Amino acid sequence: MTRFEGAEHYVPAGADLDGLRRAVQDCRGCDLYEHATQAVLGSGVAAARVVLVGEQPGDQEDRQGAPFVGPAGRLLDKALAEAGIERGDAYVTNSVKHFRFNQSGPGKRRIHQTPDAAHITACRPWLTSELRIIDPEVIVILGATAGKALLGPSFRVTKQRGQLIPRPPLDDESATQNGFYVPTVHPSAVLRADDRDAAFAGLVADLKVAAQVLH
Ligand code: URA
Ligand code: SF4
Repeated sequence: MTRFEGAEHYVPAGADLDGLRRAVQDCRGCDLYEHATQAVLGSGVAAARVVLVGEQPGDQEDRQGAPFVGPAGRLLDKALAEAGIERGDAYVTNSVKHFRFNQSGPGKRRIHQTPDAAHITACRPWLTSELRIIDPEVIVILGATAGKALLGPSFRVTKQRGQLIPRPPLDDESATQNGFYVPTVHPSAVLRADDRDAAFAGLVADLKVAAQVLH
């Protein structure tokens, strides 16, 4: 597997979220910056009580420069509302900050490609910096990529979804407050499901587990 230098040297020490948002545009920690339009950091406020972590920007996110603004984002907004999580309490972000895709088809449509473990590892310093600044009460893990980024390679969404998993400090320098992880499915998986209503209800049920921590 390709090895990358990683994002660590590009993350400015002591930066706030706006500082990270500026600096991430210059990241060359892996190869994904080469073909993407721009990097996409999270959106929301530092006082957010819950952070939702997805996979990577999609086509729309890459163009607009904001996370979860396409079809998956609309579904996620609806699920958050049904679960009783205030949009203002939530910060949404991704495990990998540049869109990975291939464009080999005849129409040259950009087709999403799942990031490799090496991309997830390379990009992790941006995610941990966001989490350190926000230090949320709950981190919702949306699907396998975020699970691997935060809980390691043995993560299985089918086994761990809907559980309240105690969160240890991110690293030695992390803020003192610990909270919980709540893994669930990725909203794109709901969009692809044969029984979309059942899959949506499952996502909402898991988000309600996260919502309980906030109440
Ligand atoms: N899927 C993700 O994981 N993140 C986005 O921002 C959009 C779609
Ligand atoms: Fe840097 Fe992450 Fe973009 Fe790779 S995907 S260049 S590590 S911001």
